[in-house]
Amino acid sequence: MLANPIVAASGTFGHGAEFSRLCPLNELGAVTVKSLAPFEWQGNAPLRTTEAPGGAMLNSVGLAGPGVEAWIRDDLPQLHAYGATVIVSLWGRTIDDYVQGAKLLDEVRAQVAAIELNLSCPNLDGGRHMFAVDSGATSAVIKAVKDSTDVPLFAKLTAVVTDIVQIAGVALDAGATGLTLINTLLGLMIDPATRKPVLGAGGGGLSGTPIKPVALRAVAEVARAFPGTPIIGTGGVNTGIDAAEMLMAGASAVGVGTATFAEPRASLRIRDELVRWCRRNRIATTAELTGSLQMP
Ligand SMILES: Cc1cc2nc3c(=O)[nH]c(=O)nc-3n(C[C@H](O)[C@H](O)[C@H](O)COP(=O)(O)O)c2cc1C
Repeated sequence: MLANPIVAASGTFGHGAEFSRLCPLNELGAVTVKSLAPFEWQGNAPLRTTEAPGGAMLNSVGLAGPGVEAWIRDDLPQLHAYGATVIVSLWGRTIDDYVQGAKLLDEVRAQVAAIELNLSCPNLDGGRHMFAVDSGATSAVIKAVKDSTDVPLFAKLTAVVTDIVQIAGVALDAGATGLTLINTLLGLMIDPATRKPVLGAGGGGLSGTPIKPVALRAVAEVARAFPGTPIIGTGGVNTGIDAAEMLMAGASAVGVGTATFAEPRASLRIRDELVRWCRRNRIATTAELTGSLQMP
């Protein structure tokens, strides 16, 4: 899928090039921009991020962002100048929000490698359940966006479902080019002194090393059910060996999110560790690793 399989996960480097001085974004396989809506959105009240046990992170940023048009004007030119391969993540409250977002990207289509549909946000027309927990809503969003753009579409799914293979199948049937697995899990941290949630919004999304086994299992099950599907395996990757495992599970690219918050150049270190691991194990290309997991 990509010559360099390491991708900055959505949320990692914000919306733009502001992090380029910390990490050369052109050296990554791709940068997935933090999810954008067709409108500006303030996001949630502070506190928005906190450490969680075991090296995890809990966040409730609430999809704060400038909106697609402002992003095209203010951020994309810099990302383009840095030579970053850009995946634009879109979110919406309704199906039409996703469609509007995709249409606004038309004018810069040549600078957008793919659109990632963040389906882990509440569907206002569907009882506020996440799009990705509902087959009908997942299918409808992907079909509607597919009708409005010819940019490759990745559906980003949540593992907080009974059967991720079933939702993945629905997403692929609806026309998704590939899948990004997984988004954050659902968590809550409590301040015992105040008996209130630690985060301003209450609950939040759990990410980082502790969620790696959940992500590996989701990728492995989906890859086994739909061999050959491009999958960006994301969740808890912090070392080159983590990345190798994600590829073995069936991913063709590997997203790195939380690791970057403690170490802005984590993605580059992970890439270098992966290359060294492949050399030591006489693996010529990372494509050889994809789907090589030997299940009992
Ligand atoms: C602070 C923060 C912000 C995030 N923002 C987004 C977002 O805007 N859209 C999205 O699809 N995922 C978002 N994510 C989820 C990540 O892209 C990723 O799927 C998840 O954190 C698991 O990967 P990780 O363990 O490497 O962080 C965010 C994660 C974090 C920690």
